[in-house]
Amino acid sequence: MKQLLIATHNQGKVAEFREMLPDFEIKSAADFDLPEPEETQDTFAGNAILKARAAMEATGLPCLADDSGLTIDALDGAPGIYSARWAQTPNGRDFMVAMNAVNEKLDGVKGDETAHFIAVLALLKPDGTQQIFEGRASGHLSWPPRGEKGFGYDPIFIPEGHDITFAEMEPSEKHAMSHRAKAVAKFVEYLKTNG
Ligand code: IMP
Repeated sequence: MKQLLIATHNQGKVAEFREMLPDFEIKSAADFDLPEPEETQDTFAGNAILKARAAMEATGLPCLADDSGLTIDALDGAPGIYSARWAQTPNGRDFMVAMNAVNEKLDGVKGDETAHFIAVLALLKPDGTQQIFEGRASGHLSWPPRGEKGFGYDPIFIPEGHDITFAEMEPSEKHAMSHRAKAVAKFVEYLKTNG
């Protein structure tokens, strides 16, 4: 089985990648005790490349990194690349804090605010090859947060054509339509022709 290192410490993401890429032995940054590089770029792609490069240089393995987030149209795309940082507290990440920040900045979520989850994957191989794959899931916000499944902002996001949040869906249902699933589908398509 081919090894692929997913350059993330987020166990929610690792679990999703394992489910979506059953033909790979998925390793995570935590398996190698890799430090989390500071995300200094101002685009999802820039940060994904930065994370994949750091992991590849440390392990010599082909690395896939994902940078993702929620962009809210009424907030000019925020939190965007700062999605994880909005959850930062002195005791670690707390997404209730991040969702409350969204609610406050919108002066109370009304329930019709359009939003998009975006995922950008960067694949870096030891031979220097670099590829980018992007996926997007559009929908609208909902308040109060609902559902116990998923992670991050899932409890306040209702995807287009549905009336339940990502956090209320079965993981398989979310994975059939999520931003990450769409980016992964492009990655899998690429693998078919490029091994
Ligand atoms: P990063 O890609 O690790 O820098 O962080 C992305 C952040 O965006 C996550 O910590 C979540 O807050 C948010 N995010 C990305 N994808 C999802 C998702 O599928 N559901 C909920 N939140 C997500």
